[in-house]
Amino acid sequence: MDLALIILAAGKGTRMKSSLPKVMHAVAGRPMVDWTIATAQMLAPKEVVLVVGPELNELAPRFSPHKLVLQTERLGTGHAVQQCREALEGFEGRVLVLFGDTPLVSVESMQAMLDKAEQTDAAVVLSVFEREDGAGYGRVVLDDVGAPSAIVERKDANPEQQQITTLNGGLMLVKTAVLWDLLDQVGSDNAAGEYYLTQLVELAYQAGHTTAISHVPEAELQGVNSRVELAQVEAAAQDRLRTRAMLQGVTMLDPSSVTMSFDTVLEPDVMLEPNVVFLPGVHVSAGATIRGFSHLEGAVVGPACVVGPYARLRPGTVLREGAKIGNFVEAKNADFGEGAKANHLTYVGDAIVGAKSNIGAGTITCNYDGFNKARTTLGEGVFIGSNSALVAPVSVGDGAIVGAGSVITSDVEPNALATARGSQRAVDGAAEKFRAKAKAQKEKAKQDAGK
Ligand code: UD1
Ligand code: MG
Repeated sequence: MDLALIILAAGKGTRMKSSLPKVMHAVAGRPMVDWTIATAQMLAPKEVVLVVGPELNELAPRFSPHKLVLQTERLGTGHAVQQCREALEGFEGRVLVLFGDTPLVSVESMQAMLDKAEQTDAAVVLSVFEREDGAGYGRVVLDDVGAPSAIVERKDANPEQQQITTLNGGLMLVKTAVLWDLLDQVGSDNAAGEYYLTQLVELAYQAGHTTAISHVPEAELQGVNSRVELAQVEAAAQDRLRTRAMLQGVTMLDPSSVTMSFDTVLEPDVMLEPNVVFLPGVHVSAGATIRGFSHLEGAVVGPACVVGPYARLRPGTVLREGAKIGNFVEAKNADFGEGAKANHLTYVGDAIVGAKSNIGAGTITCNYDGFNKARTTLGEGVFIGSNSALVAPVSVGDGAIVGAGSVITSDVEPNALATARGSQRAVDGAAEKFRAKAKAQKEKAKQDAGK
């Protein structure tokens, strides 16, 4: 059967106390709602519809080609799903309802619900978990054979129902025809005065449809309503990303200090020292070492490279095999050839550095004149002496040497030795003369003061 997704994301997120819509807050470098979309995309749905409030509706283009449906009045989860009717006009198959503020649900859990639906031909499959204290969750009432016959929201539950330990995880998979048919019968005669999606279960059961449950690990169902919960979900996501990386062959000296992004790729035999941060878009190849306190974003690190400690790789940085970036080096939009090195205190931006070139301590590519960016090109086997400034656009040919402290403003030919600095002058004995004169001056000043 075909699948469509409805992702509920119209919540205001008042408790986030933010100008950013709640579901746009990032977890491991990616907005929460994008986690839900990306995970559910693995199920190859025919349609994806998001139910949004006005704040998120402004961001419609970024969700294209998914459909956005505006829910202006937040009248409950049932009402939210009802808004999708037109957007899913003509769709037959099953609809999976997901929440935009619950980013950790795994594709395995979603797939298990689909499998359950296939096996039982259930009209409704609920995600559930077991917990002694039901807190604010909907209680799932099971019949004699363990099929769900109703969901009772906490506010509506009688003392006996309060004790139910099978709880509604929120995800619901429903046959489309049944969904539209029964949603019309959902009312708002309950403690919250809302149109509950969960009322569908009772309606389906009473109409004689098959209903079923599918267990989802509680940890995956953690939702975000405040910054505190955002931090908890972030921690869980980090833990999951790091564990996966380690199981794939990455060594971490202090895993809990490493920050990953949703898309960080670490190949086997990568070694991470403590306190490394990966922002989105990083790929680290086999055998590379990222030393402590390094910060990487949008960068490709080749095999057997060494980065850091205290290095910063900004977007567009590519390190080819065996390249080395040392302490207090910043690279941006820079391509380092095989075995190239910038080991200390350097900025390399908008540059190509040829294989086996060595950039001395304190070198700066001056790539910006306050208006425009310009490129620096270093050939292979180039040696840049310490504390040089390479004023772009400029190129240094293969095998050339730049003397320390140079300010290079014109191109350097291959194998040339370029220096661009004041030339050195030394006068014999002048230091001694200088000291004698200065001492005499000081003594005279003392005598004058004593008069
Ligand atoms: C819901 C379930 C409850 C379940 C719990 C799991 C209902 C009535 N209750 O309760 O049984 O145990 O989830 O977390 O469904 N939303 C809209 N528009 C609305 C209302 C909600 O888009 O009008 C969105 C919210 O932004 C949120 C999701 O739907 O992403 C769930 O709404 P929420 O208010 O959190 O429902 P719960 O009270 O947690
Ligand atoms: Mg909730």
